[in-house]
Amino acid sequence: MNILACPDCKTNNSKLLTKNTSWSETELFFTVNYGLRICNSCELLYAAPLEPQTLKGIEAYLTQSYNTHRVDDYCETINRIWGAGLKGLLRRRLRIYKTWLSREGRIPETLRILKSQNCQTVLDVGCSFGDFVVSAIDAGFDAYGIEPNVKLVDAISRVHQGRVFHGLFPSQIGPLPAYDAIVFLGVFYSLPPSVLRPVFDSCFRLLTAGGRLIVFDYDSANRSNLECLPTMQGPLTLSLIGAEFMRRVAADFRFARYEKIVSKGHPFYCYHVLEKSAANFTVSS
Ligand SMILES: C[S@@+](CC[C@H](N)C(=O)[O-])C[C@H]1O[C@@H](n2cnc3c(N)ncnc32)[C@H](O)[C@@H]1O
Ligand SMILES: [Zn+2]
Repeated sequence: MNILACPDCKTNNSKLLTKNTSWSETELFFTVNYGLRICNSCELLYAAPLEPQTLKGIEAYLTQSYNTHRVDDYCETINRIWGAGLKGLLRRRLRIYKTWLSREGRIPETLRILKSQNCQTVLDVGCSFGDFVVSAIDAGFDAYGIEPNVKLVDAISRVHQGRVFHGLFPSQIGPLPAYDAIVFLGVFYSLPPSVLRPVFDSCFRLLTAGGRLIVFDYDSANRSNLECLPTMQGPLTLSLIGAEFMRRVAADFRFARYEKIVSKGHPFYCYHVLEKSAANFTVSS
């Protein structure tokens, strides 16, 4: 296959949108010699060419460095988020109260979608510090997270065991055999395009009947907006999706329903909600 061909629909019908650039912190791990292309057949925006060595470097960066260098003291941040002791518990209660009041931002927006859809068990893929997992637990869900960054997962496990697990989805799938909802909050953009199909396949298998796959990410429909260019050029921007692409995925993987919800709190972002049904099969927009 041509190294620039679409890794998803395999056609040779793409155009370069922009070159990706590196960050000083990624230079130690991998070289950015790829660009973001649009597939004119399936509307996926994908980084190419991505060599095996580059993918290995990206994985090493996610495992060892991404997130932990972004705050002065990640252990202190985790203690604050996971809130041990009475003071921590009160802080968490106050946070969930504020979260519900604020109505905007990915945590309250996602919790509202989950509440409206009658979910109990939730897997947060790429949970980072675990903000969403804690908020979901405090809101009454049985929530778990997975995250490749070893230092974060170790630090979270020291203050709260059994909720956050180390690894990359879909090799790591968390502790339950199935979930009512699987959420990806700002994670999809960094998935190599070649793993999208295995990721959708695993999600479909892992969802309970009537379960929801919720993908919150940058909407590729905004690709012509100049304000989006810095995001599109980032070294971790490997796959950008939009409604057209997700509608096709829903049909291919036999999800029963697809819905796009524009984010109120995050400009240029939207939610893609795919619903699994044990029974009839129709795809609506
Ligand atoms: C931009 S951060 C978003 C973190 C968090 N979900 C949030 O909304 O704040 C992306 C996260 O996804 C994680 N990640 C990337 N690829 C992943 C994969 N295949 N499986 C699990 N986590 C992944 C990264 O380590 C990182 O923590
Ligand atoms: Zn394609």
